[in-house]
Amino acid sequence: MELMEKIWSKAKADKKRIVLAEGTEPRVIEAASKIMKEGLADIILLGDEAEIKKLAKEKNADIESAKIINPTLSKKFDEYASKFYELRKKKGMTPEKARETLKNVLYFGTMMVKFGDADGMVAGSINTTGDLLRPAFQIIKTAPGISVVSSTFIMIIPNKQYGKDGVMLFADCAVNPDPDSDELASIALSTAKTAKTLVGMEPNIAMLSFSTKGSASHELVDKVVEATKKAKELAPDLNIDGELQADAAIVEKVAALKAPGSTVAGHANVLVFPDLQAGNIGYKLVQRLGGAQAIGPVNQGLAKPVNDLSRGCSSDDIVNVVAITAVQAQNL
Ligand code: ACO
Repeated sequence: MELMEKIWSKAKADKKRIVLAEGTEPRVIEAASKIMKEGLADIILLGDEAEIKKLAKEKNADIESAKIINPTLSKKFDEYASKFYELRKKKGMTPEKARETLKNVLYFGTMMVKFGDADGMVAGSINTTGDLLRPAFQIIKTAPGISVVSSTFIMIIPNKQYGKDGVMLFADCAVNPDPDSDELASIALSTAKTAKTLVGMEPNIAMLSFSTKGSASHELVDKVVEATKKAKELAPDLNIDGELQADAAIVEKVAALKAPGSTVAGHANVLVFPDLQAGNIGYKLVQRLGGAQAIGPVNQGLAKPVNDLSRGCSSDDIVNVVAITAVQAQNL
């Protein structure tokens, strides 16, 4: 079974409540209809009810079973505004600013997830990554034992000899511009969890650099060496190694020459990039030049799941991100 099919069938087995904050976006409405038809999740749409229903009619999308909530008219609005004020008052939040902020569907949706009125949120079809992530960072925060929220791309590589039958995880390709060694170790741990719980893959984690096992010395290499050490200390059972160059990580012959004795080199299925420039460029090159399918970014390390869409996404993309979010919610 293809990976996305597996994720769909997991999502269907224990339906979760997913809030789609951009409820007045036509692609979101079409996706909501498909999600409920397939039984992937129960859907909550945020926005003006009359506008959502009008758009659904125009799109011939059946959203009868979706819950529609207009944040400012919601009976939860006052409660959320005061809870948000309490959460952020040390950061200079005032009761007035809290009420104003909660009118933003991204903040309202994130509060629903935080306080158990939804199991996960998906947005980003009309908002930027930063706009989606900021409320998640401020309200939901990181999962226990994790210092930073990060993201992973599930890469489906046409050449099945790489990763696990062509499936690999690349991290972090979308969130942390310049992680320090502690943050890099945390990214490795979160990606290991994503590999196990979302993809069903035992992770072999390569901490990537331009050096393999001391072949170059530079402070950028030191960061990766330090991060590998910290990740091993935090999770002694993980199969993780570094610092490794990309070829040593994934090609057996190169691994035998450059990193003999490594339990990861030559067959890594999780690649942890040293910073966002490398990660973002790396996944896009593999996608465009290597013909890989890139599923994501899947956010990881949050205490509850919130996932981002590309602004160019189709309604089918939204359906898949909702299925992923639902499975993440099951795995909490
Ligand atoms: N994990 C957890 N919390 C975080 C993280 C993180 N990775 N980063 C910031 N925070 C927290 C901070 O601690 C702070 O919390 P506080 O207000 O309670 O003190 C809050 O979030 C805001 O922190 P800032 O440093 O002010 O973060 P800012 O809002 O400036 O930036 C952002 C966050 C937007 C996500 C930034 O890291 C960023 O721009 N990342 C790159 C996003 C991007 O452009 N990706 C590439 C495109 S995506 C693609 O190609 C698929």
